[in-house]
Amino acid sequence: MARQESDGNTMSEFSSAWKARFGGEAPMDLPELAATMARKSARGFLPDPLAEELKTALFGVAQCAATTCGLQMWSALEVSAEQRDRMWELTGKQDHVRTAPWVLCFCADHARAHQISTDPGGLGTLEFFLMAAMDACFASERLCTSAEQLGLATCYVGSIRNRMPEVCELLALPDRVAPLFLLLVGREDPADPTPLRPRLASDAIRQPGGRDETYDDRMRPYFDQMSRQSDLNWSERLQNRLREHHQRGRGQLVSWLKSRGFDLE
Ligand SMILES: Cc1cc2nc3c(=O)[nH]c(=O)nc-3n(C[C@H](O)[C@H](O)[C@H](O)COP(=O)(O)O)c2cc1C
Repeated sequence: MARQESDGNTMSEFSSAWKARFGGEAPMDLPELAATMARKSARGFLPDPLAEELKTALFGVAQCAATTCGLQMWSALEVSAEQRDRMWELTGKQDHVRTAPWVLCFCADHARAHQISTDPGGLGTLEFFLMAAMDACFASERLCTSAEQLGLATCYVGSIRNRMPEVCELLALPDRVAPLFLLLVGREDPADPTPLRPRLASDAIRQPGGRDETYDDRMRPYFDQMSRQSDLNWSERLQNRLREHHQRGRGQLVSWLKSRGFDLE
């Protein structure tokens, strides 16, 4: 599909999204990947519920993601209508947590393997925690890309990790199950769209520690459109984020994980 640019020229959807991300011309047109190139985190959702059949089908597609050694050490629970208000509070009152029609909590899950195993020593290692966390990420991304191909919108919410004990209590999670992030799915409200967020130049990502000196300037229109209160640039925001990390309640993550049966040795 072609899009009209501000200069009046038309461009394919893929090329237009490429330009918004990187500020240059796409190396080639890939119409089949236009939806993937133009994906973004939605924060304004229409209230229309998703059909149960669609949820079940999308969940099944997510389960087909690659999984370390086939062990499938993840789980994802739907956050119910009754749990939404409390989850909204726990995530710092982010409104999309209340308004998105489908909210899933993705978890690293050792509980299943622990029940099956007669000698679960391996579960006490950092390696097995990473395996479970990565499996949850791969599955959630499959769900995202599949939903996006169907014209749905998504948003991750990681701020549940500020309040892990309360999230576990709300969702009645057993030991050896660690909530990692929420995934919101629904239809984006056309009256409240988020813009495409530019990315670092690929050259910077294709080398360890690579830098992109143009990025702070390229990000400015995005921050302006998102009407963030501060006029800090991307580098300054990164520094703030690292400086304030301990204030977000995640400083005790390791001891909390250990108390829930993840030894991380
Ligand atoms: C693990 C994870 C946690 C995130 N947590 C939040 C969040 O708490 N609230 C939110 O609005 N967006 C959240 N996001 C979305 C990011 O802010 C977003 O992906 C990033 O700014 C890039 O923008 P884009 O997805 O629109 O391209 C999260 C994304 C990831 C991957």
